[in-house]
Amino acid sequence: QHPDGQHPDGQAGNGHHGFGRVPRKEDARFIRGRGNYVDDIKLPGMLYGAILRSPHAHARLVSVDTTAAEAHPQVRAVITGETLTGLNLAWMPTLSNDVQAVLATDKVRYQGQEVAFVVAETHYAARDALELIDVDYEALPPVVDARKALDDDAPVIRDDVEGRTDNHIFDWEAGDAEHTDRVFGEAEVVVAQDVLYPRVHPAPLETCGIVADMDKVTGKLTVHTTTQAPHAHRTVYALVAGLPEHKIRVVSPDIGGGFGNKVGIYPGYVCAIVGSIVTGRPVKWIEDRSENLMTTSFARDYHMRGEIAATRDGRIRGLRVKVLADHGAFNGTAQPTKFPAGFFHVFTGSYDIEAAHCAVTGVYTNKAPGGVAYACSFRITEAAYLVERLVDVLAAELGADPAELRMRNLLRAEQFPYSTATGWEYDSGDYPRTLRTALDIAGYDELRAEQAGRRERGEGPLMGIGISFFTEAVGAGPRKHMDILGLGMADGAELRVHPTGKAVLRISVQTQGQGHETTFAQIVAHELGIPVDDVEVVHGDTDQTPFGLGTYGSRSTPVSGAATAVVARKVRERARIVAGAMLEASPEDLEWTPGRWAVRGDPSTGVTMQEIAMAAHGSLELPEGVEGHLDATTVYNPPNLTYPFGAYVAVVDVDPGTGKVTVRRFVAVDDCGVRINPMVVEGQVHGGLADGVGMALMQVMAFDEDGNHLGASFMDYLLPTAVECPSWELGETVTPSPHHPLGAKGVGESATVGSPAAIVNAVVDALRPYGVRHADMPLTPANVWRVVQGRPFRT
Ligand code: CDP
Repeated sequence: QHPDGQHPDGQAGNGHHGFGRVPRKEDARFIRGRGNYVDDIKLPGMLYGAILRSPHAHARLVSVDTTAAEAHPQVRAVITGETLTGLNLAWMPTLSNDVQAVLATDKVRYQGQEVAFVVAETHYAARDALELIDVDYEALPPVVDARKALDDDAPVIRDDVEGRTDNHIFDWEAGDAEHTDRVFGEAEVVVAQDVLYPRVHPAPLETCGIVADMDKVTGKLTVHTTTQAPHAHRTVYALVAGLPEHKIRVVSPDIGGGFGNKVGIYPGYVCAIVGSIVTGRPVKWIEDRSENLMTTSFARDYHMRGEIAATRDGRIRGLRVKVLADHGAFNGTAQPTKFPAGFFHVFTGSYDIEAAHCAVTGVYTNKAPGGVAYACSFRITEAAYLVERLVDVLAAELGADPAELRMRNLLRAEQFPYSTATGWEYDSGDYPRTLRTALDIAGYDELRAEQAGRRERGEGPLMGIGISFFTEAVGAGPRKHMDILGLGMADGAELRVHPTGKAVLRISVQTQGQGHETTFAQIVAHELGIPVDDVEVVHGDTDQTPFGLGTYGSRSTPVSGAATAVVARKVRERARIVAGAMLEASPEDLEWTPGRWAVRGDPSTGVTMQEIAMAAHGSLELPEGVEGHLDATTVYNPPNLTYPFGAYVAVVDVDPGTGKVTVRRFVAVDDCGVRINPMVVEGQVHGGLADGVGMALMQVMAFDEDGNHLGASFMDYLLPTAVECPSWELGETVTPSPHHPLGAKGVGESATVGSPAAIVNAVVDALRPYGVRHADMPLTPANVWRVVQGRPFRT
């Protein structure tokens, strides 16, 4: 067998006992079209909901007349803001301690905002009836550009809050301003750059949806929904609707991608629940693509100004950053409570920097609310992108090679654990080794030689080489520092071992395509020495799983993966006691080899996990104080985050005539500590790299000056396909996390975080002959062409 678990013929069977390239269990149903998504659920008597949305970005709601819609023969209910006001449900809390309108009562504050909800016998009838609702709006001037949101004459968006006179949400800072200013004052070189991380959208292939089913006899509400955090949703429904929490069951079936989009609670969910309560029948609401793109949580939208202070020979000493954060009409951004700008203050990145300071200001605009961590840990993508752009700007200023400049400043292995200037403690790493690996795979020196030769010969297309090095901070988080809406960020795990030695693991996190049913079974198999196929993973049903905060920010492996290892070790220790009784030996005298306990020094006496499981359920006399069975539970409160990292190299070709960028090569070397399933990890990295191509080259949520959304379909909001992506070249280094029981770090979002900077750095590098120092994403052909046209040609 291959060291990473692969059989010589490349086919690892699930009879496999632990880590390695085990094929995904869930693929058996997915590739046969047997997945079960929310829209596949059909309950007897089920009705269908549809939402009437505002065509205006900002308007006063004068009247809503639902008479004609109510008269539609197939309509069973029409719910408006007024109906909800009567139930005290017109507003709901956001994840950031703001409130959001469920259905508008006073004003609409972004295009697409929810105004009324129709419940009908069929989906088509519900949609038809929307056209029968007559809404009178009085249009108001919108705030579209975040940079104008704080102007004296800016219209006040949130006049629902008494006494509010502006669009300011928060000011937040981190780091030591004075020390940083001092370092800048003394610096030999300072460069500054305005950098925009545009508004983008997670755009999962499956849109959001719900089937709400209130059983009026039992008083039990069952909610089938596309959520990344079923337990947190249950608690929020209990708090919002005043329903008893033990009478709410949230079931999250198969999910077609989440990427942060399915963390929050959307108005449509609350409306469907109210619809079910009002009609006494189950109500399904599934949003369409435009609704998903226009109204559900966006990501990024950070206007950043970064400055970097360095010595003339390229030693980075300080970083100073100002951010204007566009949060849309309601502050619905998702992150732990204490961090209004998420984990943005990790912006010192992967470098040994003496002083750093950031100040972030959040503002309201007439756009959809959100600010979710789209495939990243709470704003780390913005932070990583900024610092990696700044390092390249510094390299250009100093005339230094970007790889050498990074090598010079990267944290070295002996500096870990490393405390950053903004208060993080990185757990482990050997960054220069990882960058060296990436440069070697890329053949960096040859690439630079090729580029120089082409430039000299004036040979097109323009070739660019871009590097990025990122550090993620995943596995939120230690309870004493992190909560969401007051809920601590720990996760539970329960492990049952049946008499025949087959196991069922119940976890609180929720896969959206990451392969948890396989990889979490591998963790149990690894710890108990039983086949992966003998472990069933149960998740996504609050009635069947222990409490925990769910899957986002790559937290599953760092938190729930750790919980799984811990609970399996508890089971193993119980098995030791039972084995002692079976072998008539003291448990302390037993020795573990994967799958069996045996008397130390005499392996022939051993008993297997399966034999122990049967005995634990049998008539065997166990020592005083020891119960039967092997089952165990745990709750894991992570002592720190885990800090995966990676080095990426992109090679692009740019046609200056059309502005078209082709990603010729992309080398990604990721270090996520110990890999449970290297094949799954590589799949995660592939997906994140494709995300990077999308954001760097194609995607932006754009608005016109009236606040009209310009990207409400996949004709305008582009997803990268195999055509735009090169054949990824992956490498790895392994630096185990010292505090995670398996040495594993999260990886799901690393590539989304790290890749945009490599591509943008490569494009800017290609355009260097034109004197270009920076260009904002997305680098569409039109944008690149404009950049090229705006600069005189210089060689
Ligand atoms: O929270 P999320 O599942 O999105 O992210 P993750 O914890 O990084 O895990 C993504 C997938 O990669 C899961 O199936 C993990 O079990 C797997 N993984 C792994 O095999 N080894 C690692 N060191 C990290 C993740």
